[in-house]
Formats: sequence, structure tokens, C-alpha cells
Amino acid sequence: MKKIVAAIISIILAILLGGCSPKAPSVTVEEQDLIVVGFSQVGAESDWRNANTISMEKALSVENGYRLILEDAQQKQQKQITAIRNFINQGVDYIVLAPTTETGWDTVLAEAKEAGIPVIIVDRMIETSDLDLFTCWIGSDFRKEGDKAVEWMEDHLKGPLRIVHLQGNIGSSAQIGRTKGLDAGIGSHEDWQLVFRESGDFTQAKGQELVEKVLAKEIGFNVIYSENDNMAYGAIDALKTAGIKPGEDVTIISFDASNHALHLILDGEINYDVECNPLHGPRVQAIIEQLERGETPLKFTYVEEVSFDISNLAEEVIESRGY
Ligand code: AHR
Repeated sequence: MKKIVAAIISIILAILLGGCSPKAPSVTVEEQDLIVVGFSQVGAESDWRNANTISMEKALSVENGYRLILEDAQQKQQKQITAIRNFINQGVDYIVLAPTTETGWDTVLAEAKEAGIPVIIVDRMIETSDLDLFTCWIGSDFRKEGDKAVEWMEDHLKGPLRIVHLQGNIGSSAQIGRTKGLDAGIGSHEDWQLVFRESGDFTQAKGQELVEKVLAKEIGFNVIYSENDNMAYGAIDALKTAGIKPGEDVTIISFDASNHALHLILDGEINYDVECNPLHGPRVQAIIEQLERGETPLKFTYVEEVSFDISNLAEEVIESRGY
């Protein structure tokens, strides 16, 4: 409504100013009419993240009536806090936050609330004692993703398992949920042993580095549980360089199910991949449209996700997956 009134006023101004003086500055009605969204993105650490950014850019485009201000935080929470403060100073209409970690948001979100700017959280969750600090959240059930991986391991692998665990960035919901799932699995199987655990920050380079480190230390293992696809790609490269066959000598479990990972399932190099869906742009757009109409969106929405191994992976799925 606010936007519509602003647009009408700017049209009247444009006509009046245009009529009074040929030198009057031109008013760009379209720009004034756009809904301004400040989006604080985690970074560009993975294919998932890049697909997520593209999805947001496509949905919150000028053609769709938005001006998107995108800030890449390079996986640093402090940069996100600074970005949110800048959005508040700029007086954006909405703030969208993809949080690096779960904790540490209360102060800056209270500032956004004080400024009257609705905050939509996407992808990962935040931990707060005051749920009124944000409007709503949409994202994945990361614990469920971890549980699915453990179920698959129970059904398909014979012990003893010696597990190398590549974690995502510590304190993020994606890391916390997927790690909890694995810990529960290890806790309930005497012949499952965790032989190595370290964070690879969700990047391919670190995934490779960590597996090289494990190999150099001559730690024996037969499973890699990688908390995302990019770290799995790095791990696979490290194994191949060492003459070890991924998918055969070592079972590879991964998360995201991005296009390249699905091809690696077909090639036999990834054994099981749990989907994490990055296409949040249209979902956020729908939430903003609801808010613009004065409606109240659901506070929490979990996205439906599937998982793949060689038994259920169809060519059509891979073809239709653009990320
Ligand atoms: O929060 C989603 C996770 O973050 C994805 O699994 C990972 O690839 C990304 O970087």
C-alpha cells in the first residue's frame, strides 16, 4: 500500500514538475515503486550457496518489482551484522538474512525491529529467546537430513565403520543438525567409530585438505560423511590422488544433491546424497507479497527434500536440476 501511494504521488509530481519547468529533474516513477530488499548472504562457499544467490536475484528482480541489495559476508558473522546495520540506515523495506551461525543476532535484530523493518530468515535458523525479533523463517530441516543419512548407512553398510567426518562451518544450523544426526547414529552402533572430525567450512579446498591430512596421518577409514557436496568433491580428489576408489574403497555420504554430485552418484563415486534445496528466491518473494497484502506468513516453514542413491536416481532428475 505504502508503495502504491508513493507511486501515485511520484506520478503527480512528475506531471506537475514536468509541466512547470522544462529543467525540472525527471522523477523515475519505476524506481520509486520498487520494493527494496537488503539481503545478507553467507558467502560464496559452495555451489549450493551460488544457486541460492541466483535464485534470490532472479525472484527479487526489477522486472518483478524489487530492488535487491545483496551483501556477501564471506562466511563472517560480523560482516552480516554490519550489512544489516547498513540496510537499516538505508531504510530498506525488508531485510532477508541467511545466517552464518545460529547465535549472536539479538542485538542487531532488535535494531531492525526498532526501525520497523521486517526480517525474513532463510536457509539456516537462528537461536533467540525473542521470536518477535524476526517475521518468519524458511529453510531446511538439517537434523532430519542427518537422520536420513544415518538410516541409509544402517540399511546399506556393514560394520565395523571407521568414519571420517567433514563438518560445515561450526555453529551453523546445517553443521549442527547434520552432526547431531551422525552423533546419534554413532551413539547407537557399537561398531561405528569416529576416527576423524574437523570443519572444512563447506569448501572444496578444505574438504580436500582435510582428507589429505587424514591420509598423511595414516588413519584407517572406510566412510566419509561430508556435510556438503563441495567438501565431498575435495575429498574425492584427495582419495583419487592417493589411488583410493571413492564409492568403492570408501563410502561417500554427502548433502545438497547438486547437479554435479548427482552425476557422481551415476559414476559410482558418491554413494548417498541428501538433498538440501537452495531455491528460496520464489519462496521469499511469496512471503513479501503476503506481507504487502497485510497477511501474516507462517512463522516457520520447512522445505520438502528428498535423497538419492543409485537405486532411485533418474536421468530426468539430473537434467531438471539446474544447480
Ligand atoms: O546452509 C546450507 C548449506 O550451506 C549447504 O549444505 C552448503 O553447501 C552451504 O554452504
